Amino acid sequence: MKKLLLSLIAAIMLVPSSVKADEGMWFLMFIERLNHRDMQKMGLQLTAEEIYSINNHSLKDAIVQFNGGCTAELVSKDGLVLTNHHCGYDAIAELSTAEKNHLKNGFWASSRKEEMKPSSLFVRFFVRMDDCTKRILAQVNDNMSEAEREKAINAEIAKIEKENNEGGKYVVSVRSFFQGNEFYYFVYQDYKDVRLVGTPPESLGKFGGDTDNWEWPRHTADFSMFRVYGDANGNPAEYSENNVPLKPKHYLPVNIGGVQENDFAMILGYPGRTNRWMPAAGIEQNVKFAYPAWVEGAKVGMDNMKKYMNQSDALNLIYASKFASTANYWKNRQGMIDALTKFGTAKTKAAQEAKFNAWANKKENKAKYGNVVETINNYYKLTNEKSRHDNYMMQLLRTSAFATVGRTMGRQLENYAKADAAKRAQMAPAILEMAEEMFKEVHIPAEKDILAAQLNLYSTKATGYAIAPLVEKIGKENNGDFTKYVNAAFDLSIFTSKDRIKAFLDLPSEGMITNDPLYVLSNDMLTHFNSKSDAIAKAQNDYGAAFRKLVEGLRESKIGTIKYPDANSTLRLTYGKVRSLPADKRNDAKINNYTTLAGQVKKYKKGDAEFDLPERVLEMNKNKDFGRYADKDGSLHVNFLTDNDITGGNSGSPVLNGKGELIGLAFDGNIEAMAGDVIFDKKLQRTINVDIRYVLWVIENFSGAKHIVDEMTLVK
Ligand code: ARG
Repeated sequence: MKKLLLSLIAAIMLVPSSVKADEGMWFLMFIERLNHRDMQKMGLQLTAEEIYSINNHSLKDAIVQFNGGCTAELVSKDGLVLTNHHCGYDAIAELSTAEKNHLKNGFWASSRKEEMKPSSLFVRFFVRMDDCTKRILAQVNDNMSEAEREKAINAEIAKIEKENNEGGKYVVSVRSFFQGNEFYYFVYQDYKDVRLVGTPPESLGKFGGDTDNWEWPRHTADFSMFRVYGDANGNPAEYSENNVPLKPKHYLPVNIGGVQENDFAMILGYPGRTNRWMPAAGIEQNVKFAYPAWVEGAKVGMDNMKKYMNQSDALNLIYASKFASTANYWKNRQGMIDALTKFGTAKTKAAQEAKFNAWANKKENKAKYGNVVETINNYYKLTNEKSRHDNYMMQLLRTSAFATVGRTMGRQLENYAKADAAKRAQMAPAILEMAEEMFKEVHIPAEKDILAAQLNLYSTKATGYAIAPLVEKIGKENNGDFTKYVNAAFDLSIFTSKDRIKAFLDLPSEGMITNDPLYVLSNDMLTHFNSKSDAIAKAQNDYGAAFRKLVEGLRESKIGTIKYPDANSTLRLTYGKVRSLPADKRNDAKINNYTTLAGQVKKYKKGDAEFDLPERVLEMNKNKDFGRYADKDGSLHVNFLTDNDITGGNSGSPVLNGKGELIGLAFDGNIEAMAGDVIFDKKLQRTINVDIRYVLWVIENFSGAKHIVDEMTLVK
């Protein structure tokens, strides 16, 4: 009833239908103009100024980008930062040993002294942004090649960065939007002393593992907690015992009152990448060529890691993080293939392009837009096989540590061999440190298997396009089986142990490095990966210009309806509401917009790698020991759904109610949401969030770390 009334009011007021809730990743600086009225109607009680202000403290001051790829939020006056477990995963694994296995057992610092600094982890605060489109576009014209255009733009970008970084105090980044039709600059401040405060055991933090990943109903405590430190004046500083917890300009109050269907929910964060303007042929290329290769290559890497991870806790810790991120995208890419096929997304896009093409070939548009669609389609036709090849190669390079020695350790050693004695003395310590780090992350028998298996796959499956010449030669000499060759190369290579690298530093020889079998193989693959024919280079150049014009033309003709730019790791806001999916037998909650601890316990499988649970959880569930975090209905809510528009990079983002209070953490999407890379479907796509009450229950009641919760401001 209320809904009907609202839509009547909306109709009377003629609310522009173009700006829709749920779909859209909006810039904070345009909220006032584009979204604020709509948001208010849905339940927002803050002013636009309270969300984003350059001069006054605002919500944006509590949101950080976490280690370059995730989002996190400040939740105490002493710099406590909350993010996802899968965002802290790499740091937690690094800080764990077989004896003190925090990844497996969980960890909570009982005092500030116990907080642990991983080798490298930073958070990035957003200071301000502004439009610099006119200034950038004044540097270019239509006669430039794409390379010339890029050069001119980069020169202007360098100036803008210099003008705004205040002598190095800030990081300034100028980014392109709407496919090079608009430009904005962003001013950030980075803090590098970030320490682990606590994490649930992996059995909770990653409950459901890859089976449940990207799916609903979900029961995961996907959170971990860190603290930002600065110097005594609150400025960023390298790690030091004298650093103190940062006093943030703003931190989020936490609302433990619980959420209900249709409650307003907004998410601020750093979505990484969407391709909502991607042409139909691009979608086809991904679904038929790129992603299948990605999925297959990732799986080969995963299977070979898993073999060794199962052998011991120590080996598991070496590969846990690499395995998790490989597995995450392995399932994601398969999900995208399925979702885009099921939705017929390429067809929908093709229909839009046909409409555009008709418009583009009208007399008045023809000169500028007439051949846009044709150029785009030619490019994809020419590069389909290359994209398959590149994806096999990419998984090879990602999962095999030694496939990339050409650009890491190898290059260092070659430079070292060529340098004079003084220079060598200068270089040696950094190289030794690099070796130290490198061998923490590899296990040689596993690496041999990964590389051989990936070469076997690549050399047989990527042949629609030319494969790397040396790989082809070795394959021919060995009937397509690289096992023997790889084993021999590892035996001979100087890259396969710290001792060999040390010995090389003591007695360097240029010939020895330039003939090293792993170095030669790696260089061969990297060079091949980065090279292309003149025809492809030309098609790529033309495609760049055509795609830019396609987006310009879709906006100009109003055939395209999207009003927000693609995600590109810049701060965005998305708003919508708590929203259920149709009833689902697998979820026993009363409404299919949340899950409960009882539901989690139902999934429990003793000793299982993905569905095991700590005894204590079973007991607490039996006793309904939910403390102050029980819902009105008596259960403990674990995860919930909203219809916000997010993507990878939003992981760890705060879910906020209309007052800007924290009600949850975004951590995933349902299967249908995977199509969200190229299209948003408001009926089917959902964001999956951890209920903040479950987070606090795990910290306070399950882990006994009430002192951490006491730092936060709880409201109801
Ligand atoms: N799908 C989530 C994302 O990309 C990551 C979830 C991590 N959990 C897992 N079981 N791998 O943000």
